[in-house]
Amino acid sequence: LEIVNDWDFPETRAQNPCLPEFLLETWQGFVFINLDTDAAPLSEFLGPLEPEFDRYAMESRYRAAGIRMVLPCNWKVAAASFPETYHVPWTHPQIGSWVSDVDSTLIPLGLHGKCVNARRPSPNNAFEVDDETYLAEQLGFLNREAMDTAMEGLENGFGAREILAQVQRQRFLDKGFDFADCPNDEFVDGKGYWIFPNAIAYVGLGTAGHVLRFLPNGRDPNTCVAELWLMTFPDDANAPMANVPMSSYPLGTSVTEAFEDSHGFHPLGPVLDQDLSNLESIQRGLQSAHYPGVSFGLYQESLIRNFEEALDGYLERFDKPSR
Ligand SMILES: [Fe+2]
Repeated sequence: LEIVNDWDFPETRAQNPCLPEFLLETWQGFVFINLDTDAAPLSEFLGPLEPEFDRYAMESRYRAAGIRMVLPCNWKVAAASFPETYHVPWTHPQIGSWVSDVDSTLIPLGLHGKCVNARRPSPNNAFEVDDETYLAEQLGFLNREAMDTAMEGLENGFGAREILAQVQRQRFLDKGFDFADCPNDEFVDGKGYWIFPNAIAYVGLGTAGHVLRFLPNGRDPNTCVAELWLMTFPDDANAPMANVPMSSYPLGTSVTEAFEDSHGFHPLGPVLDQDLSNLESIQRGLQSAHYPGVSFGLYQESLIRNFEEALDGYLERFDKPSR
């Protein structure tokens, strides 16, 4: 930096003045900027999460949609609304025919976590689901073009999950992406990861590929900024990719509206709106003088417990006495 009248600032000149430098690393196509220059390397921070992403080819995807909006709750409340499926039969009854609650697998990965949403009808449904309905409703969400092929498969005696894996595998192959090494479950079940502290990444091949990030909204603890990135494979593996810019929306906008305004309808919109529908009530409840505290399910909400413990560890480490 140039210092005007530098003879008057000998100490500053001796310090070789420049803009402060921060840590910057990349992983799976994402850029991580860390203001803590004493922080451990990113691979150490990611720990057991790092190899989990190897088979999902994130570098081959681009941001096909980007929505930023304000939500009426703290960022931690919003993040904790996703890495569990306990809520599915009641919050999302329309997908209970192909997303189960009690069959999901939750695995803490150090600070982070992995949630495998089992794609089978929930036993808590108040209705029976046959293979045809299971296939039709799941493909209506993920791969509508494969509907006729899937129904033919059923008529020919193949199992619903086997058909799903086959049409999804073929869909990627048609675009030039060969996931020959992936077992069928990778294409059928929904795999999402909680990247500590504030990102939920549904990167499994059986998901829409949406990454959610929740940030504090300035110093307001009662609202947060939510970002949705739709990380999609291009229609042609050799086609140039350009990330779509983020579109911002104020408090009160629904995800469905934001999708329609910026990118067109997406079936994720109504599902995410259901997830967000009770956040304001949760935020108010957490602050109630008569509420003794939150109790989490032992297993079904174990990733939220893991997150809270990891967060407590950070707060203890960095809660230095003020001078
Ligand atoms: Fe949900």
